[in-house]
Amino acid sequence: MAALSEAGAPGRLLVLLFSLGAVACSSAPPTGGAVGPAQTLRTQVFMSRCSICHAPPHPKRHSYAEWELLLPVMEQRMEERGMGELSDQDRVAILSYLKSNGR
Ligand code: HEC
Repeated sequence: MAALSEAGAPGRLLVLLFSLGAVACSSAPPTGGAVGPAQTLRTQVFMSRCSICHAPPHPKRHSYAEWELLLPVMEQRMEERGMGELSDQDRVAILSYLKSNGR
């Protein structure tokens, strides 16, 4: 019986270590959004929404006036694929990103 309880000890220690690790991870403060200002968010919206069907285009590929014309075409492509168009919030974020970063 002594052998059994000795074998159990390292197992319990491991469980303890794992649960400590889990607590440490879940209590880590959220860092998203705290780092950069609005620029980061706009970039994220652009990168996530415009990389679904193709690689995200370089913002300097078009002037802002061209982007304004191209965006509705892309929204049409989104509707064709049943994704629905952009939310007003996402459209504003993407246009604002392209205004600052386009040529
Ligand atoms: C639903 C799929 C889809 C999504 C999402 C999408 N595109 Fe496109 N994109 C296309 C397709 C398909 C083409 C090929 C040309 C066409 O059919 O109009 C294209 C082509 C392009 C081109 C090349 C045409 C050119 O004149 O240079 C650019 C730039 C572009 N997309 C930008 C964007 C941007 C910016 C977004 C985010 C707002 C976006 N796309 C999101 C489907 C998509």
